[in-house]
Amino acid sequence: MGGRESDMVLLDANGIRCDGRRIDEPRRIMIKAGGLKNADGSAYIEFGDNKIIAGVFGPRDVHPKHMSDTDTGILRVRYHMEPFSVSERKNPAPSRREIEISKVIKEALAPAVMLEKFPRTAVDVFIEVIQADGGTRCAALSAASVALADAGIPMRDMVAACAAGKVADTVILDVNNEEDQAGQADMPVGYMPNLEKITLLQLDGVLSAEEYKKCVETGINGCKLVYELQKKALQEKYFQNGGQQN
Ligand code: CDP
Repeated sequence: MGGRESDMVLLDANGIRCDGRRIDEPRRIMIKAGGLKNADGSAYIEFGDNKIIAGVFGPRDVHPKHMSDTDTGILRVRYHMEPFSVSERKNPAPSRREIEISKVIKEALAPAVMLEKFPRTAVDVFIEVIQADGGTRCAALSAASVALADAGIPMRDMVAACAAGKVADTVILDVNNEEDQAGQADMPVGYMPNLEKITLLQLDGVLSAEEYKKCVETGINGCKLVYELQKKALQEKYFQNGGQQN
């Protein structure tokens, strides 16, 4: 949190945010299942101005072999930002932030994936952020879930993700880049709606106990909206187009 809120109006007198949204309104979300011919499963998501592709490979042999587990499959996730995805060119080398986000996405996906069915193998998830505008870890996690389902990997549920946060002492749904930089709190939430289980919960900023509870509830509501669009994306590929597209 930048703590620069006084510099800009994040919430006006009519309860309208800097990008014209109401406090409980998500950005425009578009999810497409498939698209990458050489992946076993893939998905593309537009979450406001975020544009992200996820590709899934596997279950496949593990190299190096000593990394494999005789009892279960392993999940590997790489979150990567294109140098042109942000306004100030990002160094293409993996940053600490990308390593952290890869780890949290892996841990958020793991409870959903039935890795125990594929001992000695790996499922690899590659995430490419083409354009970033705040909330990429949530958008990437949501796309990765659809890509795993598209790859036919057995899953207990899909993980949907959306952030909640606080600007001008008010809890808001789906934090954009400006709100993330200048607001008071950002809470990314990953959630499996069918199992009613949270798999990602981070908090940057300070909240009272009451605000914390409201943020978690708001984030979960956002996840439920995303979940419907994830299912729709898979239905569109497999039921309306007869599974013909990639
Ligand atoms: O994207 P997310 O909110 O999950 O992660 P963050 O670390 O809170 O980053 C917030 C936003 O900062 C990103 O979505 C990008 O829009 C922006 N960012 C940037 O402009 N340059 C970077 N090198 C990294 C992030």
